[in-house]
Amino acid sequence: MRRKIVAGNWKMNGSKDLSEKLVGYVRSESVSLDKGVEVVIIPPAIYIGDVVREAQGNISVGIQNVARWQSGAYTGEVSSEMAKDSGCCFALVGHSERRQLFGETDKMVAEKVSIVVGSGLTAIVCVGETLEERESGRAEVVVAGQVREGLSSVKQGDWQNIVLAYEPVWAIGTGKTATSDDAQAMHAAIRDVLRDMGAPADEIALLYGGSVKADNAADLFSEPDVDGGLIGGASLVAKEFMSICRSLSAGT
Ligand code: 13P
Repeated sequence: MRRKIVAGNWKMNGSKDLSEKLVGYVRSESVSLDKGVEVVIIPPAIYIGDVVREAQGNISVGIQNVARWQSGAYTGEVSSEMAKDSGCCFALVGHSERRQLFGETDKMVAEKVSIVVGSGLTAIVCVGETLEERESGRAEVVVAGQVREGLSSVKQGDWQNIVLAYEPVWAIGTGKTATSDDAQAMHAAIRDVLRDMGAPADEIALLYGGSVKADNAADLFSEPDVDGGLIGGASLVAKEFMSICRSLSAGT
């Protein structure tokens, strides 16, 4: 059985206050979800301790980015081991904002995936094409390349610690969502690439991200290869985030 996951990526938003109130609400409401649905909160690193405390082990916590190194003289960086030590179970790797604003390449993604999995966390590896790449008909080729290169460091036996998130860049924060048909087509294509790489493709959770809201989540999650969502803006609004979680719950 594939994991079913709704993860809220707060990006550089939130506060101590939100960490307490929103996470407290999600924790208390999450008892009503289907048992198979995992809820993950991914706050800015500085609030991980607050979120872990408030989550009380009922919901999982992730980090938005980790260093490519285990430890040492890398001022300002946070290691995967430190995230684990602070209570994280997940780490995002290769979010398009990291790729576009901080120059992260597929090679760096592969290095981080190896470090994240090695420290015992589950990597949520983000892939997705730009509008230009989609309009020129190259979306599947671009995404397939990101999957192959970004996951090139994964060893047999480590695939259970890999989750993929397909986030078309043009859908992030824009209010434009991929249609459920387009999302399904890309997820099926990603699964084919994984199969071709020798991965247990049918067991790897594939999340969709990009302007997922309470009113479009059920449609997206109803697709056979969409195993959940990676939510940005809507994850900062407690009721809306829970409503998205419930859509997955209802779809399992
Ligand atoms: P939005 O849901 O705000 O479009 O962000 C998606 C995203 O980038 C999640 O990682």
